[in-house]
Amino acid sequence: MIKLFIFDLDGVITSTSIEHFSAWKEIIKDRFNIYINDSIEEKTKGVSRMQSLNRILESYDLEYIISDNEKVRLATLKNELYKSMISNFDETNIYPGVIKLFEYLKKKNILIALGSASKNGPSIIDGLGIRNYFDYIVDPTDLMSKPHPDIFNKAMNHFNLSPSECVGIEDAISGVTSIKSAKMYAIGIGNQEQLNHADIVFKSIAEIDNKFLENLIEGDHE
Ligand code: BG6
Ligand code: MG
Repeated sequence: MIKLFIFDLDGVITSTSIEHFSAWKEIIKDRFNIYINDSIEEKTKGVSRMQSLNRILESYDLEYIISDNEKVRLATLKNELYKSMISNFDETNIYPGVIKLFEYLKKKNILIALGSASKNGPSIIDGLGIRNYFDYIVDPTDLMSKPHPDIFNKAMNHFNLSPSECVGIEDAISGVTSIKSAKMYAIGIGNQEQLNHADIVFKSIAEIDNKFLENLIEGDHE
């Protein structure tokens, strides 16, 4: 019996994964005059701000040519730019089907948690006007980034549940790995081929139907 759904934020509930990467592109172009390739985006998902920067720098052999202070400066600039890009986000930026799914889960008395690596998570949730749906928001500070299971385990342990009582929803390869490492049922959102390690993949949250949810919630996924 499922008791808890743990949602990733960026790219699942709203489009902020796009703004995260756009902000990095601009910061790296301004600093190094390099146009970072779209193929690097996946590597920056689910990991902390500084890890995202390090992965971008590594991809261009730039990680040793700048100081740690300079990395902090770039990460801070990126976050300022990112926040300005999403400053007008409101309920119109919630992906289709998300509210319907939240309402369904609430009706079934299923707990809802946010399991995002983003420190901006709580303020984004407030901006979207959906804070009231969440029973718990994981603070990613001091937790290992995805694909490590820490973030999903933190939500599960908060409610004293076991993995078979939890479902994770993710759009990133590392995020799905994180859910599976926590031994939970993984719903992938996006591309079937990319997320084939998920238990099931939907193109978007809007495609998740009630029949599927009913079977999932009542079923045994040990
Ligand atoms: C994750 C994103 O959700 O949050 C990553 O997928 C991002 O790309 C990470 O680096 C940290 O976000 P923030 O908002 O704390 O910089
Ligand atoms: Mg995501």
